[in-house]
Amino acid sequence: MIPVFEPVISEDEIEEVVAALRRGEISGSFGEALPAFEGAFAEYVGCQYGVAVNSGSSALQLAVAAAGIGPGDEVLVSASTNIATALAAYHNGAVSVPVDSEPVTWNLDLELVEELITPRTKAIIPVHLYGHPVDMDALMAIAEKHNLLVIEDCAESHGATVRGRMTGSFGHMACFSFYANKVITTGEGGMITTNDPALAERLRSLRNLGFGEPRFYHEIPAFNFRMPGYVAALGLAQFRKIDRIIEEKRRVAQTYNRLLAGIPGVQTPAELDWAKNVYWMYAIIIDPAAYGRTRDQLAARLWEKKIQTRTFFCPMNQQPFLRTQPGTRDIPCPVADRLWETGLYLPSTWTLDEATIGLVADCIREFQAG
Ligand SMILES: Cc1ncc(COP(=O)(O)O)c(C=O)c1O
Repeated sequence: MIPVFEPVISEDEIEEVVAALRRGEISGSFGEALPAFEGAFAEYVGCQYGVAVNSGSSALQLAVAAAGIGPGDEVLVSASTNIATALAAYHNGAVSVPVDSEPVTWNLDLELVEELITPRTKAIIPVHLYGHPVDMDALMAIAEKHNLLVIEDCAESHGATVRGRMTGSFGHMACFSFYANKVITTGEGGMITTNDPALAERLRSLRNLGFGEPRFYHEIPAFNFRMPGYVAALGLAQFRKIDRIIEEKRRVAQTYNRLLAGIPGVQTPAELDWAKNVYWMYAIIIDPAAYGRTRDQLAARLWEKKIQTRTFFCPMNQQPFLRTQPGTRDIPCPVADRLWETGLYLPSTWTLDEATIGLVADCIREFQAG
């Protein structure tokens, strides 16, 4: 089987984890690996502070909590995203409002943002979907005009840039995931980056049960979202390879682009001229009228050939528990709906060789029946 992704963990990474364990770095409360990983990753992103946590979902939930967003507030989110983006608002008692996608990069459509803003709107959480960045210069201009906080969801965009500047360095906070299939991984893990010292301090306190003075006296309801030290050691070892991994992910994408070019009804991922796409997953859209088969027929065909694929995300406007949340707004998202019905992503592990990519591309080309 050719899986959509395969974790690649090498001996040097295993050795670093074992070394951290030998140093006794088993918790998220002490040790050298944790601050080293936080410091190195934050510097890479172009931020002063990094706060490591136990998942990307925790990072988002913590960021929304640190911003003081809660009941009665609305948060604009990309319609096409992992549920974790909307859950961050939900678990803080706020309502997420989906912003429909635009059809080229599949990111939130900046033309639609302003008309969705109400007096309740407190923040925007843009997602850099599948590794293509949102135009953060344009988004920050809208946010500043309306005095909104911006939390970038960078779970899929480590190393992606906008006019040469890293995603994660634009918003007031940015949230990264190090889940098994992410650009770099700690198995499970996440990090929030920020340049705001007050936010960084609040995030650190909220991640660690909100200990006060004296210890065991708590002014705020917080969380235990700590990342263990030996997990941070894996993160640091992975981080040292990030440039190579991104280069290889771009090679995989360029190979797919070349081999899928010109097939009627197959839309390949964009890379706009101001953007660097890290192609977290190599995703395509199937137009059934031009391709002659549906996305589901193609996915079934690939599966017969032992090639795994996954659909795009079910958009936030269609999620049952969000639709019934008190205060929810019914926002049509026709583009995100179409992406959910017609999009799929292909095997995207950064070690895929040309022959394997060729097998996948041949299958897609041969199945076309226009
Ligand atoms: C856009 C996006 N946001 C958030 C998350 C949540 O991250 P995690 O799985 O580490 O909780 C993911 C992926 O898993 C994601 O793709």
